[in-house]
Amino acid sequence: MTGGSPIRVLIVDDVPESRDNIERLLRFEPDIQVVGKASRGQEGVELAVRLQPTVVLMDMTLPDMDGVQATLAITAQAPGSAVIMLSVQSDPELLRQAMLAGAREFLVKPFRFEELIEAVRRVAQLARPVQMVAMTPVPGAPVVEAGRPDRDGNVIAVLGTKGGVGRTFLATNLAIALRQRTGKRVVLVDTDMAFGDVAVVMNVTKAKTWTDVAQLGSSLDQEVLEEILTTHSSGVQLLLAPSIPQEAEMVTAEHFQTAMRHLRHMADFIVIDTRPGFDELMLAVMDSADCLLYVLTMEMTAIKDARQFLEVADLLGYSDKRLMLVLNRVNSYSGIPIADIEENLKQELVARIADDPAPVLRSINEGTPFIEVHADHRISAEISRLAGVVADQEAPATAPQPQEPHRSGLISRLRLGRRPA
Ligand SMILES: Nc1ncnc2c1ncn2[C@@H]1O[C@H](COP(=O)(O)OP(=O)(O)OP(=O)(O)O)[C@@H](O)[C@H]1O
Ligand SMILES: [Mg+2]
Repeated sequence: MTGGSPIRVLIVDDVPESRDNIERLLRFEPDIQVVGKASRGQEGVELAVRLQPTVVLMDMTLPDMDGVQATLAITAQAPGSAVIMLSVQSDPELLRQAMLAGAREFLVKPFRFEELIEAVRRVAQLARPVQMVAMTPVPGAPVVEAGRPDRDGNVIAVLGTKGGVGRTFLATNLAIALRQRTGKRVVLVDTDMAFGDVAVVMNVTKAKTWTDVAQLGSSLDQEVLEEILTTHSSGVQLLLAPSIPQEAEMVTAEHFQTAMRHLRHMADFIVIDTRPGFDELMLAVMDSADCLLYVLTMEMTAIKDARQFLEVADLLGYSDKRLMLVLNRVNSYSGIPIADIEENLKQELVARIADDPAPVLRSINEGTPFIEVHADHRISAEISRLAGVVADQEAPATAPQPQEPHRSGLISRLRLGRRPA
């Protein structure tokens, strides 16, 4: 529901039975009200302008113009109305055209009635906030340009073989830091397809997602990808994980590769949030990355995993990539000295992010990116410095660190097979 007022629906369909069926079914929904019906495209556009419905149900085939043309006109003349395209054909090219014209959803006939209701409620919720975010200029930020073929975006994958180490927290804030530091075009990609958290952490309503990329298949191009990205108020653009976990399996490594080919031309920095594991998709993520940012915490198990990851990265031939280790949740009570971690991993930590549970948790729960609300916090300073290193603006020397405890000798327990020298 949209703030208590009903969702106002306009039906545009030339077949009287279809129109009436849809109307009859919608009548039983207390939060939905059919405000108009049209049998021709032009009539549909005129009614949309006059009635300003929340949602337009648009049939693809109409006698005077096709549904795509009518959608294009409604997007231009009644931008507050969200169009759901209804079509008997599931052709990816049609889907692409519908999206370019501004349609929010595409339902293939015959659809289940519940599908239609869900789609109506979903787009009604999305319509206004998404448009407002997309249309709100970011103060001081450069205008985001349409796809430029000459870009070769720098791809940074934020990895961690353990769950809950702070990948999403770092990926989201790093993306904003890159945008703040460079003013360039940054896209944050959520590849945790089943349980991606980027939309929640960035507090955006999911509009289009990886599901749309998967449905488009090889018809995906830069123009339509622009439509799929959601723009956050920071200026960072987001390629979000599917809204429902069941859709995760629709997205394959091949879809990821196709999208990345385009994104590299569209953006200067592409930050990828990931999930643990080495499945096909995660291998494709790592293959695509220029920089692998591995996140670990001060736990024996996380350090052991990091070492195993370094070994796997060696085996996978990733020596040409920038492989950087980020220690998150740095504290003085873990009993493991930082120097011992570096010694064990035979690699310096590129960044050490302090542990400060209360403000981090609040920023996540409130959907307000940490680096924006706590700009002076040492966590923000360290993430911003990390962004500088990633963007080649800063040398990878680490900032002054939180106090360390004395060496504990615990590191002796970490002899779990050393990385080849
Ligand atoms: N530097 C930090 N200080 C304090 N708490 C932190 C810090 N970084 C992350 N956290 C906490 O750790 C939790 C997990 O963070 P996050 O969701 O970013 O991890 P993740 O690796 O993406 O997890 P998942 O496996 O669910 O994808 C969050 O609830 C957050 O509050
Ligand atoms: Mg996560």
